[in-house]
Amino acid sequence: MGFDLNAGLCDGVRAKVLARGLEGSIEVVHGNFFLADLSKATLVTLYLTTSGNSKLRPKLEKELGTGARVVSHDFPIHRWDPDIAGPQDHYTLGSHKIYLYGIPEAYTKEKEPQRTPDEASRWKRIRRIFLGLERERSTE
Ligand SMILES: C[S@@+](CC[C@H](N)C(=O)[O-])C[C@H]1O[C@@H](n2cnc3c(N)ncnc32)[C@H](O)[C@@H]1O
Repeated sequence: MGFDLNAGLCDGVRAKVLARGLEGSIEVVHGNFFLADLSKATLVTLYLTTSGNSKLRPKLEKELGTGARVVSHDFPIHRWDPDIAGPQDHYTLGSHKIYLYGIPEAYTKEKEPQRTPDEASRWKRIRRIFLGLERERSTE
């Protein structure tokens, strides 16, 4: 499910969804994501701004359950710790930055939360995808 306040962007995405035959799987909402119920979301992707992310942060902390993940394109979520090893706080894809966060360890001191095996393997998969993309880019 995707949200945007910009009607033109929503129409553009709907056209892509139809072109790919994905209309049963993807819903595009021309509306305010602050009205969305995130309690069942396991993966939230954001392409906002740093201030937009800061406004959204309390809602993410309140509604997302343990094991959910947040991926933010280009902008970090201030006050949260990204899930990445090493000195950088983000992955790089060309000129784009990708910030990964795990719930709740992004904003708690709990660095090893209890995850079900399913949650743990989903999380590993998403990191592998970004690491793979990063490697692909660096060899282009
Ligand atoms: C950096 S642009 C990204 C555009 C587009 N979503 C994309 O992924 O290419 C930020 C977008 O966030 C949308 N936005 C800002 N506040 C919003 C809100 N409360 N609810 C839904 N969309 C919002 C704006 O309309 C704008 O299109």
